[in-house]
Amino acid sequence: MVDRPVRGGAAAQVIPAVTEWTMEMHDPGELRPAPGPRVPMTFTLSRVPSPDVGRALYAAVGARVCWTDRFSWTYDDWRAWVERPELGVWLALAEGTLAGFFEIEAQPGGHTEIHLVGLTPAFVGQGNGGHLVEQCVRRAWQRGDTWAEGTGPARRVWLRTSTLDHPGALANYRRRGFTLAGETTGPKSVPDPRVAPWPLPDDPRTTRRAAAQELMS
Ligand SMILES: CC(C)(COP(=O)(O)OP(=O)(O)OC[C@H]1O[C@@H](n2cnc3c(N)ncnc32)[C@H](O)[C@@H]1OP(=O)(O)O)[C@@H](O)C(=O)NCCC(=O)NCCS
Repeated sequence: MVDRPVRGGAAAQVIPAVTEWTMEMHDPGELRPAPGPRVPMTFTLSRVPSPDVGRALYAAVGARVCWTDRFSWTYDDWRAWVERPELGVWLALAEGTLAGFFEIEAQPGGHTEIHLVGLTPAFVGQGNGGHLVEQCVRRAWQRGDTWAEGTGPARRVWLRTSTLDHPGALANYRRRGFTLAGETTGPKSVPDPRVAPWPLPDDPRTTRRAAAQELMS
């Protein structure tokens, strides 16, 4: 492994062999329902695109399993990503808190990619993950109808998962009816997931003082 500095002073490591699997489904009938969740869960489509919320969800769910690809994204990168009508983000709420989320993109040709899906740490490993993925896939098949209106129906639902995700993720996708469409293995450089740099769009120490001075004048 090779260490090299990244933003925030944390070290990046090259993991010599990361395996990535592409999983897919070609018909909603292929979805296999999961047992019900351990705790009642509601799913809400987010109607206010937000780089701040997107970044927080990404870190809350992914940091412990090494989601780091977006750590280098700037505020403007996030904004450009989330402010697209073809992107749908759902919040999963349970017990009065955020239990998870998923992010799905309606792509041309009916391809519908599940970019992100996961539970927050307190809800992992308790039998909630099958339900979360089932609800996610159901919504992926509703693309063009209840979200990403006008983009046409889904013809294929697909995702990528890797050895940097939770060790149960691949099994969960198989249990839900996904089949393997591709597999690659190679080295990958990953920053320390304990560091989630988030340069703010402006400096509150100066902008807030300026705003206060304006109010006083
Ligand atoms: C992936 C994730 C949603 C799975 O949830 P979980 O709470 O760990 O898993 P669950 O206990 O609910 O199990 C879900 C299903 O996978 C199966 N499963 C889980 N781990 C397994 C394992 N190691 N071997 C075999 N099957 C396994 C369970 O049997 C269950 O099947 P069922 O629903 O048909 O009964 C959750 O771990 C998570 O969100 N992790 C963090 C983010 C992440 O890695 N997301 C995936 C990105 S691709």
